[in-house]
Amino acid sequence: MNRTGTRVMLVFGDPIAHSLSPLMQNAALQKAGVNAVYGACRVPKEQIGAAVAAVRLLNVWGVNLTVPLKEVVCPFLDELDPAAQLIGAVNTIVNRDGHLVGYNTDVYGVRRTLDLDLGFDPAGKRVMILGAGGASRAAIVALCQAGAASLGIANRTVARAETLIAEFAPAFPKTAFHACSLSSLDLGNGLKKADLLINATSVGLKGDRFVDFPWPALPDHAPVLDIVYSTEETSFVAAAKRHGHMATGGLGMLAAQGEKAFELWTGIAPQEWLMRSCLNAAQGKPTLLPMEGNLLAGMIGS
Ligand code: ATR
Repeated sequence: MNRTGTRVMLVFGDPIAHSLSPLMQNAALQKAGVNAVYGACRVPKEQIGAAVAAVRLLNVWGVNLTVPLKEVVCPFLDELDPAAQLIGAVNTIVNRDGHLVGYNTDVYGVRRTLDLDLGFDPAGKRVMILGAGGASRAAIVALCQAGAASLGIANRTVARAETLIAEFAPAFPKTAFHACSLSSLDLGNGLKKADLLINATSVGLKGDRFVDFPWPALPDHAPVLDIVYSTEETSFVAAAKRHGHMATGGLGMLAAQGEKAFELWTGIAPQEWLMRSCLNAAQGKPTLLPMEGNLLAGMIGS
């Protein structure tokens, strides 16, 4: 490929060393013949303003943001798309001739993994979300936009769930909201009528787990999504499966948010299943895509 005029894309986060975004984005760029490279930079939270200034100075084409930068980046951008504005978090920046626009493609990621991995259409359904932080905000917007009938927000700190509901309920008048605690009794009552359960807490990130989770209350038909992304099956997904539920972790969401970001930057959709296959390959799982020219093997080995 002619590398004259190669554009640069980056992911910022702290920590960032283990990000799989460079793997899947570079594979997609190469496959699509886009003359660009995607790298990872550690950016401490207090340096986000300087990092965004560098994006402008160096004319970086696009940026992804991960923990802990998604919220703090907002004031440094020129424009936020409506979903990012509502959520108050940006995971993708598009540089349009120096005008930096913030998007939240996690919303698309949630919708896509519900569809592809769980065959779940939120329209008219009742959903229980665990957690009231950033991940929960993206899930709420995704579900409300897709027409969920009711959303329960269960959080360790109930007041935080109530604050979240007060913020989102006016934007989504067709969805009924209710808050509850994570106690077995409270949560068990809420789960009885749920058609879908989502873990959007950070429980499971460091190998920790919920104790006394009221699994028997969740109806058999309800699938389970654990937004926590881990290279191994999380304890939450494992427990859901043990109790007979269809369940998936955050891999599908990670791939889908990356696909949407790629499309926002380049104007073209990445090859279907490529990013997901990269993530599977990185975990030593079978890929879904025939690998041409040993593209992935080379990238993973490098
Ligand atoms: P993120 O942006 O990744 O969602 P966050 O804003 O720090 O991160 O939110 C983390 C969520 O996980 C919160 O809902 C938090 O509950 P609190 O609001 O009560 O802090 C939840 N969480 C973290 N550790 C938890 C634990 N050990 N048990 C239950 N919930 C936990």
